Amino acid sequence: MTAPIDATSTSAWAELTAHHSSFSPDLRGWFAADAGRVERMSLPLGDLHVDLSKNLVTDEILASLVKLAEQTGVADRYAAMLAGEHINTTEDRAVLHTALRRPADAEPHLVVDGQDIDADVQEVLGKVAAFAERVRTGEWKGVTGKTVTHVVNIGIGGSDLGPVMIYEALKPYATAGIEARFVSNIDPTDIAQKTADLDPETTLFIVASKTFTTLETLTNARLARDWLWESLSAVGAIAGDEASEADAVAHHFVAVSTALDRVAAFGINTDNAFGFWDWVGGRYSVNSAIGLSLAISLGPDVFGDLLAGFHTVDEHVRTTPLEKNVPVLMGLLNVWYGNFLGSQSHAVLPYAQQLNRFPAYLQQLTMESNGKSVRWDGTPVTTDTGEVFWGEPGTNGQHAFYQLIHQGTHLIPADFIALANPAYPLEDGGQDVHALFLANFLAQTKALAFGKTAEEVEAEGTTGALVAARTFTGNKPTTSIFAPALTPQVLGQLIGLYEHITFTQGVIWGINSFDQWGVELGKQLALQIAPAIEGDDAALAGQDASTQALIAYYKANRT
Ligand code: F6P
Repeated sequence: MTAPIDATSTSAWAELTAHHSSFSPDLRGWFAADAGRVERMSLPLGDLHVDLSKNLVTDEILASLVKLAEQTGVADRYAAMLAGEHINTTEDRAVLHTALRRPADAEPHLVVDGQDIDADVQEVLGKVAAFAERVRTGEWKGVTGKTVTHVVNIGIGGSDLGPVMIYEALKPYATAGIEARFVSNIDPTDIAQKTADLDPETTLFIVASKTFTTLETLTNARLARDWLWESLSAVGAIAGDEASEADAVAHHFVAVSTALDRVAAFGINTDNAFGFWDWVGGRYSVNSAIGLSLAISLGPDVFGDLLAGFHTVDEHVRTTPLEKNVPVLMGLLNVWYGNFLGSQSHAVLPYAQQLNRFPAYLQQLTMESNGKSVRWDGTPVTTDTGEVFWGEPGTNGQHAFYQLIHQGTHLIPADFIALANPAYPLEDGGQDVHALFLANFLAQTKALAFGKTAEEVEAEGTTGALVAARTFTGNKPTTSIFAPALTPQVLGQLIGLYEHITFTQGVIWGINSFDQWGVELGKQLALQIAPAIEGDDAALAGQDASTQALIAYYKANRT
């Protein structure tokens, strides 16, 4: 195992520490003094135009950050990942989500641990596309001979967040008349509400689980199966016997998993199961068969274009010098803000209603990846890691939490994402509503960067204590990510960008961004506590006083 390089012991870190000791951000001054700043700091990434100029960095600081990436071996680590080295050290696995979007004709084939990765990926992709076409053309029929109108993806975490986010984002491409729904929460409300108005004869469930052991997903899959049987029986579509129930499952359930034996044990025919591999992390799995709901609802071509968008970014990261490498630079900026300027959270603010689930998707990607206290060799981290990612689509966020970003005491770097063309061009009495929308994006990034001085406030006639209240310090850092439109390629590029930002930060901190041991303890305890709630006195006695009291409250109030 290659030992992580301690970023804090590099000369680049020392340089950054020195920059910080005399640091006094001045975006107004920097813009006034440097006519080339915007052009120099605006970079292309596939179809994306990324403007870094409103970040709190000088050229010198950026150069030191790039040096930090060099000295911590970001490029080498990336090459190791692409080559299939087992950089997921705690699980002794390769990390090859990038292989899921290699072009079909990629040569030479990527062979890792004796597996022809390219051949296997293409085989499953072909199977996914063929199945999606069968459903879309109506060749695939439910147990009563009806075609599918709804696919319901049952999964959680990486087996849910990517598909639901992308479906929301690319809904205008869902033209085949098949609606996708997503059930994730074990709260029975989720499945009850999502199935309430569905016709069982035209519904296809996809049980998506990498491990096929996840409590939430298997519970929801059983509830869905019960719903299917009961509602088909209720309309006389099936008899209540075992054979017709099995037939109903065969026509209305498919699965996506790395554990096909468990799929079979659940009663799903493995002919209708789509595999993937342990070298695909859950939160990096939307390019795998986990995207089946997307291939069905949006079409295999759209899914292919999405993969191509991801691949564009993979190639950019692989071939672009660090000083022009957009994901690397954005990762480095996050390190600057988190490790030197003390910020603890990062807002992602899409000016695109279609991206309303993008912040939630990024929360798993970034926080499950980089919320770690030990490095990939088991030693403690040497600096803070993993900021909190959060956000909401603009302009909703403006009327909720932007106050704190503008005038609060915490430094919150923010990424603004905008599209030149809307999915739905509408006018309000001659006013292009999208232009008005984008005016807000531009206004917010401008206000955050340049603020409003007390003199400017006074010049408007404000006096006394109100002057301070109406003053904006500015120097609130933002990155603007602009694209022509939310096409499948653009969305793939956007997601790929954040995957590689996350990767860059992980390497600099020396952590394994591909395991998630931190979610295990709660899962184990839930299994121990469940019997205590259900009346097992011994299990109850084993709980701490607070948990016992909360269980007592539950029992007293549960009707
Ligand atoms: O929450 C932990 C986790 O393991 C995630 O990493 C994963 O995406 C999710 O659970 C779902 O896991 P699975 O796909 O195996 O059901």
